[in-house]
Amino acid sequence: MLYTEKDQKYKRYTVTTALPYANGPVHIGHLAGVYVPADIYARYLRSCGEDVILIGGSDEHGVPITIKARKEGVTPQDIVDRYHNIIKDSFKELGVSFDIYSRTSCEEHAKTSSAYFKKLFEEGKFIEKVSEQYYDEEAKQFLADRYITGTCPHCGNERAYGDQCEACGTSLNATDLINPKSALSGSKPVLKETKHWFLPLDKDEEWLRQWILEDHKGDWKTNVYGQCKSWIDAGLQPRAVTRDLDWGVKVPVEGAEGKVLYVWFDAPIGYISFTKQLTPDWEKWWKDDETKLVHFIGKDNIVFHCIIFPAMLKAEGSFILPANVPANEFLNLEGDKISTSRNWAVWLHEYLRDFPGKQDVLRYTLCSNAPETKDNDFTWKDFQLKNNSELVAILGNFVNRTLVLTHKFYQGVVPSIGELTDLDRQTIEEMKTFPERIGRSIETYRFREALAELMNLARLGNKYLTETEPWKLVKTDSERTKTVMNLSLQICANLALLCEPFLPFSAEKLRNMLNLEKLEWRKAGNAELLAAGAIINNPELLFEKIEDDAINAQIQRLQDAKKQNELNAWQPNAVKQEVAFDDFGKVDIRVGTVLECTKVPKADKLLQFKIEDGMGTRTIVSGIAKFYPNPEELVGKQVCFIANFAPRKLKGVESQGMILSAEDKDGRLVLVTPSQLVTPGCSIG
Ligand code: MF3
Ligand code: ZN
Repeated sequence: MLYTEKDQKYKRYTVTTALPYANGPVHIGHLAGVYVPADIYARYLRSCGEDVILIGGSDEHGVPITIKARKEGVTPQDIVDRYHNIIKDSFKELGVSFDIYSRTSCEEHAKTSSAYFKKLFEEGKFIEKVSEQYYDEEAKQFLADRYITGTCPHCGNERAYGDQCEACGTSLNATDLINPKSALSGSKPVLKETKHWFLPLDKDEEWLRQWILEDHKGDWKTNVYGQCKSWIDAGLQPRAVTRDLDWGVKVPVEGAEGKVLYVWFDAPIGYISFTKQLTPDWEKWWKDDETKLVHFIGKDNIVFHCIIFPAMLKAEGSFILPANVPANEFLNLEGDKISTSRNWAVWLHEYLRDFPGKQDVLRYTLCSNAPETKDNDFTWKDFQLKNNSELVAILGNFVNRTLVLTHKFYQGVVPSIGELTDLDRQTIEEMKTFPERIGRSIETYRFREALAELMNLARLGNKYLTETEPWKLVKTDSERTKTVMNLSLQICANLALLCEPFLPFSAEKLRNMLNLEKLEWRKAGNAELLAAGAIINNPELLFEKIEDDAINAQIQRLQDAKKQNELNAWQPNAVKQEVAFDDFGKVDIRVGTVLECTKVPKADKLLQFKIEDGMGTRTIVSGIAKFYPNPEELVGKQVCFIANFAPRKLKGVESQGMILSAEDKDGRLVLVTPSQLVTPGCSIG
């Protein structure tokens, strides 16, 4: 049973997590926004004895996947196979307790989503419309969604997509874009007629307004409510649910050759088709009013889960609607927006490789810093701090002190509890309040608050030890020490129970140390979880300090990624204004042979060249020292130089000309030399 009254009417919980696109691995942004909170919620419900399924899977359709496949010269199936497996394995290792993690390229999903479309089609729930869409005449293909790029009419971003501008977050129609360009060929697309099926959302406005803006007022999170309100207030338009593409679920009606279901039509049906794969008894999870349906998503998914999918469910007629959609805002990384294409991310599978056994540290950091009400920033320094000064110094320290002392004083046997002091009674009373406090926070999707409360229980334990000082007390009052240690052990047992949704690996470790069974949530708060005389195993550290080296390596990796991005974004300078040939002819460029080359004293950028120029020798100073650390190696090489610049002094040396070099994209200067030896002094033109 849950603490929140309005939840008590539910018999079971269907908890879904947004299906990540299988065009890349998952990163900390996905985790903090969706999977960590959903997993905490599901684990909590299970420990309350509730019936719950946690549903997940990969979203394997959509244009980004086909674009990636094309770029790599492989099939879309190759791409989704690769990432589906990485994603699935890494979720498992992080302890995300999916009852099923499936994928939308599987047969059951094609069957279910296709039947879903067919039913709505046959019942006349769609409107059929011929409209003009962009078409690439070179590639002979319609340009759906991300196949088209152009300038955003709202913010001017030149790289907006046909379905969305990522710079300002506006969702777009391809025909809204200024200067549209095909992502396939780069050519300018033409408009061509094509037939599609639309969900007439305009007809849903009234019940959606009532259901979201009235019935769920004060219940759904304000960020979710606010986005829904502005969508509804702006007036809902019919939405196309089919596309002219060949990757996806085929549209199962006549006259729809070459068309597939829109990815945002088939993907949410995945929640249903995956439940079918999980259990033949799937209908009770989707069609019974006593089931609470909860969608965990990121903020970019709000309209799809709060408006479009509910409209689809309603149109079908036999499904329940989501009771809540606790969407999170975005997590940034070191002050910058997380981006798959710019490799600006902490990838889960890489984290698991670099920090083996530290799943709970990541779960803890992401939950305690989750972007629940506003965008938040993840930094590696903060990650280290949270581990070292919270997990190690508060939770780990309390448990370790208690268990070590129990072994030292009583060889691991739980001592009996004697007469209680006021402090003991107060501590027990306070301890009793935690299960409900934590539980209510989780039930209302305030996971940060819940986690902070959990840490307060560990703080209570530390405070109790500090005030009672059993390490001193044992020398003067052995009876009292037993009571203190018994109570401290009871707090440890409570922590083992209450930390499970957040820190499942540490919970298990702690339970094993305490020889404690997995108990129901409502058993917590109790000061008799461990019986006197029970045996405690040897303590191991729950958490270990993370050193600077490990953190610096991660920061370095990000800096390297940033540098790489800058290089990838490099473009040649724009061509300068036209000049007349005669003007060019005024510049006297020649070839010379290097006779001597040395560093200019007290000038770390400058090299001093002595050059044979066919008429004699001349001295030229050039600012390339950084790129030629061994200047003597240049002797004998030929260089190009401008021979008719007026001499000028650089650091006390007179320079008689300028040596030519090319500036590469990383800023490196490279000397320009003739491709074969030529006579010194000859002209270039
Ligand atoms: N793949 C989508 C995204 O990453 C989420 C799909 S959620 C579902 O934004 F509802 F379609 F399943
Ligand atoms: Zn924009």
